[in-house]
Amino acid sequence: METHIENPPDRTAPGEVQIDATRLNEELKALATFTSVEPSAEGTAVTRIVFTLDDLRARVWLKGLAESEGLAIREDAVGNTFFRWVGAEPDLPAIATGSHMDAIPHAGMYDGTVGVLGGLEAIRALKRSGLRPRRSVELVLLTSEEPTRFGIGCLGSRLISGTLSPERADALRGAQRGCEDETLAQVRAAAGFTGPLSSVRLPQDHYHAWVELHIEQGPLLEREGLPLGMVTAIAAPAGYTFTIEGIGGHAGALLMPDRRDALCAAAEIILSIEKRALATGVIDTVATVGTCDVYPGAVNSVPSRVTLQVDVRDTDPVRREGVMAGVRRDVDAIRTRRGVRVTESLVNADPPAISSLHIVEVLDEICRGYGIAAKHMVSRAYHDSSFMASIAPIAMIFIPCRNGVSHRPDEYAAPADIERGARVLAATLGKLASE
Ligand code: GLV
Ligand code: MN
Ligand code: MN
Repeated sequence: METHIENPPDRTAPGEVQIDATRLNEELKALATFTSVEPSAEGTAVTRIVFTLDDLRARVWLKGLAESEGLAIREDAVGNTFFRWVGAEPDLPAIATGSHMDAIPHAGMYDGTVGVLGGLEAIRALKRSGLRPRRSVELVLLTSEEPTRFGIGCLGSRLISGTLSPERADALRGAQRGCEDETLAQVRAAAGFTGPLSSVRLPQDHYHAWVELHIEQGPLLEREGLPLGMVTAIAAPAGYTFTIEGIGGHAGALLMPDRRDALCAAAEIILSIEKRALATGVIDTVATVGTCDVYPGAVNSVPSRVTLQVDVRDTDPVRREGVMAGVRRDVDAIRTRRGVRVTESLVNADPPAISSLHIVEVLDEICRGYGIAAKHMVSRAYHDSSFMASIAPIAMIFIPCRNGVSHRPDEYAAPADIERGARVLAATLGKLASE
């Protein structure tokens, strides 16, 4: 006898939401193969710099997955990609989720990707649940959350929110040694993203809500034995470039008393940055010098020029500015004592982002319903959500990552935690889509 399996009835609220955890984990592994570094003993190292061949191939792969779900696809001039499940009232502001797929050099396979593929799986799960959403639900892939290529993070979401002007963006130059001649305008055109960057901006209240799923990138959830966190605020990040110019010369012949060694001066500046951040005595202040480019970079040549990229963050932007004021006083003393020239340029100084109370309440309610113990927490990493906050009420869902490790090949999130995060995301999107 022929069995007839009925389709689930259409609903305006999601029924039982079930994540296909096996498929989600397979897709995370598949995405990790789009990398310019080979797997190493340290783990699955991923390097996927924006608009490289690996990034472009990963985008094609993701679009294929979204197409097979029947999502409507739109790409903007900077490569932000929007995958829309059209709701019953398509003119209402949509509910959105998403994250990034680019990865810094020798990163892991979960940063950003859990939010993109978890978001796709959340949409699939809602469809399977029989939901017919009132509002459209959109997955957004944001371009270059990582600052590796152009020196500034969250390019796509900054342009969406109007935080970065289209002119400044197009003129951004390669931040890596040897890439200083390439501009964003050239690189995006070569990648097939043309049109004016002014068209990327979206109006305020474009979305009814934005919810990003992400690994915590810190140790708190794991230490407290909690499977999930809801982000109530994202710390305020700032970036600076310091260029130190001294006098180069022969490492054997240039006498020590005559030296104006740019790297020695840079070393003192680096230590000042660490000292000033520690001096606040507050755990929320962090400062990092993540790159140090030494010119001419030969073992038998006294460094004549050094460029430092500096990253300073705090939940309190005033305290962050206080750290930089102290660093500047130290720099003045170092430049006088060592006879070097130091110039500082601001890359970005962003405010903190605050989550929507309403979305956090919805998250609380959903976690209670699932019996999930969750905590409210601050994100010390920045995210695209920091800028999506300009055009929508936002919140984020954090899942634990092993030992709090991120931006390293041994970054790891357990499949059960990913599944739980995606399930809470799906239920939240479903609930918000019915509003
Ligand atoms: C994001 O990658 C950050 O640096 O916080
Ligand atoms: Mn990252
Ligand atoms: Mn990230």
